[in-house]
Amino acid sequence: MATTPIFNASCSFPSTRGIDCKSYIGLRSNVSKVSIASTRIATSQRRNLIIRASESGNGHAKKLGMSDAECEAAVAAGNVPEAPPVPPKPAAPIGTPRIQPLNLNRRPRRNRASPAVRAAFQETDISPANFVYPLFIHEGEEDTPIGAMPGCYRLGWRHGLVQEVAKARAVGVNSIVLFPKVPEALKTPTGDEAYNDNGLVPRTIRLLKDKYPDLIIYTDVALDPYSSDGHDGIVREDGVIMNDETVHQLCKQAVSQARAGADVVSPSDMMDGRVGAIRAALDAEGFQNVSIMSYTAKYASSFYGPFREALDSNPRFGDKKTYQMNPANYREALIEAREDEAEGADILLVKPGLPYLDIIRLLRDKSPLPIAAYQVSGEYSMIKAGGVLKMIDEEKVMMESLMCLRRAGADIILTYFALQAATCLCGEKR
Ligand code: PBG
Repeated sequence: MATTPIFNASCSFPSTRGIDCKSYIGLRSNVSKVSIASTRIATSQRRNLIIRASESGNGHAKKLGMSDAECEAAVAAGNVPEAPPVPPKPAAPIGTPRIQPLNLNRRPRRNRASPAVRAAFQETDISPANFVYPLFIHEGEEDTPIGAMPGCYRLGWRHGLVQEVAKARAVGVNSIVLFPKVPEALKTPTGDEAYNDNGLVPRTIRLLKDKYPDLIIYTDVALDPYSSDGHDGIVREDGVIMNDETVHQLCKQAVSQARAGADVVSPSDMMDGRVGAIRAALDAEGFQNVSIMSYTAKYASSFYGPFREALDSNPRFGDKKTYQMNPANYREALIEAREDEAEGADILLVKPGLPYLDIIRLLRDKSPLPIAAYQVSGEYSMIKAGGVLKMIDEEKVMMESLMCLRRAGADIILTYFALQAATCLCGEKR
C-alpha cells in the first residue's frame, strides 16, 4: 500500500486502520493486569478489555500490591516511582548553524507534526460514497480497450459491465453513470434512437436494476452519441444548434431512461431551459422521484478529447462553443446556476474538474444544492500517462486530485478513477 496516512485516516471502511493497536492499548496498560505487550488484539477483544478495566473496581490494585491510598501516600512522602526519562534532543547534522530560535508566537507546523496530529486536523474527507463511476457500454460481447484512456473499456452491456459494477460495489462505489457507444447505423440528424425504450441505455438499466436494485444509476441526457452530426442537439442547415427542438427530444430521452429505472437523469447538452422542461416531462409521466443532475457549468473544453474517441462522437463539423461555456468565463456560471436552481435541478455539476476548481467553489458558496464535479477523460488520461511514463506517482496524484475536488466544494465526483481510488481507500491492493 502506497497511500499516505492522510488518506488512510479518512477512509470510512476499516475504521481503526492506521492506528497502532499496541500504543492504543498501552495508554490503558497501567490499569490492567493483562499482559498485552507484544500481542495484537482484535478490536472486539480490545473493547472488552477496556470495559473490564474500568468496571473492575479495585480488584486489580490488590494484586499489584498497593492500594490507591498507599500509592498516593508514597508519592506524597517523596518516594516517587520511576518512569523513563525524556529522550535526549535529536542531533542536527554537523555544520548546522547555531542560531537563536525565531521569536514566533505562531508556528503552524505544530499542527502538522505527526500522522496522528495531521489526521486530527484534516478538514476534508473522501470516501467511496462520494464517487460516481462513468462506464462506457456497447452492444458487443467483448470489452474493447479505449486507446486514449488506459484502463478504460467499452464494456459489453451484458457481461463486462455487470462485472465492473460488482467490483465497484465491493469497494463501496454504488453509483454509476452510463455512456453508450451507439452503432453508426442508428445515428440520425435528430437522434431519435436516444428515446428508444429498447435502446442500449434503457435495456442496460433494466438489466442492472434486475441484478442490483439498490444501485444508483445516473444517465447522460444529450443527443451526441445518437446524432449523425456528433452534436448534442439538432443541427440546422446553416450549422445552428436548434435549442427548443432539441429540448423536446431530450425530454423524451429522459422519460425513456426514467421508465427503464434510472435514478438520476443528467442533461449534459447545455441547451437553455432543458432542466425545467425535463422536470415537467418527468412529472407528467409520474416520475416525481427521479432526480435531475444538471451539467450547470459545462465548458467547451479540450479535455473531453479521449471521451469523444471512446464513443466515436466527435462533432462532424465545428465545435460546441455555441452551447458549452467559454473557459474564460466565471460569472456566467452563476447565470446558469440560477436558472438550473429555479427550474428544479437537484444537483449542480461543474465540468471539467481540476482546471475549474474556482467554479466549483463559486457554486458551492452560492447554492445550497449538492455540487458534483466531473473529472473528465482528459484529466484522467493525463494522470495515467504521467504514471505510465514514471513522471509522477499515479496513485498519489490520483488521490490528491480527488481530494482537491472535494476541498473545492464537490459533494460527489464523477471519475474514471472511482474503482481504483475506492480500492485504494479501502486499503486493499489491486
Ligand atoms: C456529451 C458528453 C461529453 C462528456 C460527457 N458527456 C463530451 C462532450 O460534451 O463533447 C465528456 C466526458 C469526458 O470527457 O470524460 N454530452
